[in-house]
Amino acid sequence: MDNKEISQAVIGRLPRYFRFLGELKDEGVERISSQELSDIMNVTASQIRQDFNNFGGFGQQGYGYNVEYLYEEIGRILGLDKTHNLIIIGAGNLGQALANYTNFERRGFLFKGIFDCNPSLHGKRIRNMKIMPMEQLEDFVKANEIDMAVLTIPKASAVKVAGRLSGTGIRGIWNFAHVDLNVPDGIQVENVHLSDSLMKLAYNINRFDNETLSCFDSGFIDEK
Ligand code: NAI
Repeated sequence: MDNKEISQAVIGRLPRYFRFLGELKDEGVERISSQELSDIMNVTASQIRQDFNNFGGFGQQGYGYNVEYLYEEIGRILGLDKTHNLIIIGAGNLGQALANYTNFERRGFLFKGIFDCNPSLHGKRIRNMKIMPMEQLEDFVKANEIDMAVLTIPKASAVKVAGRLSGTGIRGIWNFAHVDLNVPDGIQVENVHLSDSLMKLAYNINRFDNETLSCFDSGFIDEK
């Protein structure tokens, strides 16, 4: 199956399916219908069937989905059947927080090294890694078959560092710096902006408040 044909919206929903199916598998659930999955996940059953049809359906009509098979297949589509070797660049607050989060390893994302340009941090230990100087970056990436880099550095440095990474064999950049990166075709960039998520939350609170107010205005809700 060529993932390039699948829309990014569908790909964006796969991790959530994967998470829910993982929980069902851990609970010993063997089969689930799209309707049952829909009830748990708060997505319509037709959306689920449409999403899964992109990958050939995964199930027999009227018989439900085999939870373990679906979990494994979605994991495979997401590339989670392989391990990924990561480095973190920028050992400040965010970089250290990510390095200390052990759960990524359960999904096969292995932090192998952490780098920073600040000499006072060099040699400081974070879990099983010592913070290294940037001079060692290229050699370390090649020697340790690193395929992903996490950028937790200010945006002023991120473009330059991404440029340095381009020739090293890195395949993906998880970019927390608030800047768009121009990288060669073979490198994928995933930008993370936690503030986007917060703004969505603010919007939803706002919308809820406005809807509640308009219910008062229209007399649908009696004021007590
Ligand atoms: P921080 O100041 O604690 O850490 C940044 C680290 O990067 C420092 O240790 C610094 O020495 C290092 N650094 C700077 N330039 C470098 C370079 N050229 N090469 C290697 N290391 C370099 O900052 P914090 O709080 O960890 O945030 C890091 C970045 O992530 C900031 O740019 C911030 O705006 C961004 N950020 C993004 C979020 C998001 O949701 N996308 C959330 C939080 C922070």
